Amino acid sequence: MTARIIDGKAIAAKVRSEVAAGVAEFKQKHGFVPGITVVIVGDDPASHVYVRSKERAAKEVGMDGSVLQLPAETTREQLLEHVRRLNADDSVHGILVQIPLPDHFDEDEIIHAIDPRKDVDGLHPENVGLLFSGHKRFASATPAGVQRMLVEENVQVNGAKVVIVGRSNLVGKPLIGLLLGRGNGANATVTVCHTGTKDLAAETRQADILISATGIPGSITGNMVKPGAVVIDVGTTRVPDSSKKSGFRLAGDVVFDEAKEVASAITPVPGGVGPMTIAMLLTNVLAAAKDHV
Ligand SMILES: NC(=O)c1ccc[n+]([C@@H]2O[C@H](COP(=O)([O-])OP(=O)(O)OC[C@H]3O[C@@H](n4cnc5c(N)ncnc54)[C@H](OP(=O)(O)O)[C@@H]3O)[C@@H](O)[C@H]2O)c1
Repeated sequence: MTARIIDGKAIAAKVRSEVAAGVAEFKQKHGFVPGITVVIVGDDPASHVYVRSKERAAKEVGMDGSVLQLPAETTREQLLEHVRRLNADDSVHGILVQIPLPDHFDEDEIIHAIDPRKDVDGLHPENVGLLFSGHKRFASATPAGVQRMLVEENVQVNGAKVVIVGRSNLVGKPLIGLLLGRGNGANATVTVCHTGTKDLAAETRQADILISATGIPGSITGNMVKPGAVVIDVGTTRVPDSSKKSGFRLAGDVVFDEAKEVASAITPVPGGVGPMTIAMLLTNVLAAAKDHV
């Protein structure tokens, strides 16, 4: 079997055009556009690339996208003050603090300081709690993107056995909340694996839908995939590659060439889950703005 390749770029483009239409309608109704501010502290090159693409994508759908760029030496008090100011700014409907922050910050403290109604990354405990109690406000953009992909690809999630590899607050845990929920693209039987899992391959081989978010290239090999499974590779790791102008390439967790011979459908890296993240972030910003008016 050779798997169908799931085109994340095409699905993300569809979501973005839906958001653009929603923004135009919002503007007509309210006379202003939804706004998102992305806060970045320090000079991590990968983070700067992500932040610029978020700003560009926001502008492309007609939103007011801005970046607050702060030096690495920014203090805890200064960053908290910026967050408080953005919380109080009526023109800002979504706030995203780019993670990772420099080591001298307690990331949880900063995330908890964001007004939960503007927390478009869905990481504030109030939003996590709402997700897990069946009253979702914002789900973290990458997991929401995974769910949307499954829906768009007509993958049967209802009743499926889903195995998630990775339990981070950003990816694995919100995915549990989304896929365990009720409704379209949910109602699955969910197993979550991590480094404490005794026999990872025995678990992954049970999966009708296998979602990997380890950040370890090659951690999911073809023989860990059940024949006919749908494989979603969230992993996005920069690995050195001297043949590339940038000096690196992006690698997923899954050994793609092996898994595509076993799976029925699979996401590539790049071009799979990655493009969905920004599209779903924009969806959250529009929802936040609608909630605000
Ligand atoms: N496409 C996107 O837009 C997007 C967005 C977010 C993240 N990502 C990518 O997704 C990947 C994961 O990100 P993250 O933030 O969730 O990473 P993370 O915080 O490092 O979490 C990785 C998780 O994988 C588990 N894990 C690692 N190696 C494992 C192994 N050999 N067997 C079983 N479990 C293992 C870890 O288990 P323990 O908990 O036991 O340590 C942990 O729960 C990264 O490559 C990241 O770049 C992509």
